[in-house]
Amino acid sequence: MRIGYYQFAPEFGDVETNLMHIALALENINADLIVLPELATSGYLFISREEVGAVAEPIPGPTTEFLHGLAEKHHCHLVVGLVERADGEFFNSAVLVGPRGLVGVYRKLHLFNEEKYYFQPGNLGCPVFDVAGVKVGLLVCFDHLFPEAARTLALRGAQIVCHPSNLVLPKYGQLTTRVRSIENRVFWILANRCGVEQRGGKKLVYTGCSQIAAPDGTILLRASAREEVLSVVEIDPSQACDKHVTPLNDLFADRRPEAYEL
Ligand code: ACM
Repeated sequence: MRIGYYQFAPEFGDVETNLMHIALALENINADLIVLPELATSGYLFISREEVGAVAEPIPGPTTEFLHGLAEKHHCHLVVGLVERADGEFFNSAVLVGPRGLVGVYRKLHLFNEEKYYFQPGNLGCPVFDVAGVKVGLLVCFDHLFPEAARTLALRGAQIVCHPSNLVLPKYGQLTTRVRSIENRVFWILANRCGVEQRGGKKLVYTGCSQIAAPDGTILLRASAREEVLSVVEIDPSQACDKHVTPLNDLFADRRPEAYEL
């Protein structure tokens, strides 16, 4: 299976331009699963609820239709972060779209900082989806600091965690997601954005350094901090089904949930 990420810097507030940019970047891909950043179609640094509303859309909606067209053309699955409008509220969501259309939606559970002004916390739990027989879970950015979310996906059978991000705290996400891949024996695609957003007297510098970690924590691919780049690597997803770290230690069989507060 060929998996990858597309790291780039979305134009704030311009969904159409961002979708064209994504389409162009994917033009020559040969991959089964590509992950894009959090809020990849809109940018991130909102300074009013009106701005969020201006780029929000239902799922399914025009953006998932567009992504469906790309997935069909390139015979691949795409994971993309976008602003979802549902029941009069906004969610920081990620969609999984394949050649046959929308496969699933994840709504970010753990909102970061001022996201709490604009978004509702996710209410769809931690679903696991099927991509050509491989189990895939989605998380969004700040979720990485809550190991329970990744553990839940892994216990539900996820072999690959797709993680659209807009990381701003230096080095945290690259470190924690590598640890999450080791402790859950899963592949982890961290698709971070790069660039800087400066609006309304606020400034965010995104950390780039997207990466793909293997179930033993090996970094299979790593982008630099500032480059716009699409990278793909071949993996054997069945490796994520073996939870052994020694012949006598299966990380899931050895768990002691009766001793935990989870
Ligand atoms: C983040 O959750 N976008 C840091």
